[in-house]
Amino acid sequence: MEVIVSQAKARISVLAAQMIATLVKRKPRAVIGLATGSTPLGTYRELIRMHKEEGLDFSRVVTFNLDEYVGLPPTHGQSYRHFMDTNLFSQINIRTENTHLPDGMAPDAAQACRAYEDRIRDCGGIDLQLLGIGANGHIAFNEPGSPPGSRTRVETLTEKTRSDNSRFFRSMHEVPRYAITMGIGTIMEAHSIILLASGRQKAEAVAAAVEGPVTAGCPASALQLHASVTAILDRAAAGKLKGAYPSEPQKPIV
Ligand code: GLP
Repeated sequence: MEVIVSQAKARISVLAAQMIATLVKRKPRAVIGLATGSTPLGTYRELIRMHKEEGLDFSRVVTFNLDEYVGLPPTHGQSYRHFMDTNLFSQINIRTENTHLPDGMAPDAAQACRAYEDRIRDCGGIDLQLLGIGANGHIAFNEPGSPPGSRTRVETLTEKTRSDNSRFFRSMHEVPRYAITMGIGTIMEAHSIILLASGRQKAEAVAAAVEGPVTAGCPASALQLHASVTAILDRAAAGKLKGAYPSEPQKPIV
């Protein structure tokens, strides 16, 4: 895993956006895996700026998001579809039909999960996957204990994750108990992966993911087995790492 530790959160957002932009320029039909949460917001803002000011063209780009809450319709303010439409898709020239999220309202969730995997495969697989990390080491909604070979499926959210995410809901009671998530095995098939983390509350999970043993107890540690992962961290998120790492990429990752 290549690790980059930048001084400021703003810089990690720009670095991730630059990597995505490099891919889109090289491969206009790129398939990009996207994440929700507060961490990628700065990256999305930078991509929007690049689109508006520099003409970065998303007209042929295809996206697949990592996950979606079960039971929240796309119109719900906390659905991940709503998050993506608001924070990225509506502000760039991507075609709605090229943007994919798991269907959290599907009557047959298992079938929706299989369909999602099929769609990723039909589009040629994911070129670059953007990932955040949960404070308990989850990636997407693969909670601790998720098998490394897991595929897109319904996952029961831990109380830790529900309480971390409750800040976006009016009460804990409203936080969904289930989500559809790409599996760790699905994520590991992406050609390249960017793991973004910022803030002290992620420091322990980051240390376990980057320098700890590969264990199902920390789902993000599976990334150590992938050939092309770049972890882009701010100083606070890197606070519990033992190694010394550069502050800028040493080689292009895409
Ligand atoms: C959610 C998402 C994850 C994300 C995590 C961290 O649980 N399913 O994909 O990485 O939150 O969110 P944040 O970036 O807000 O800390």
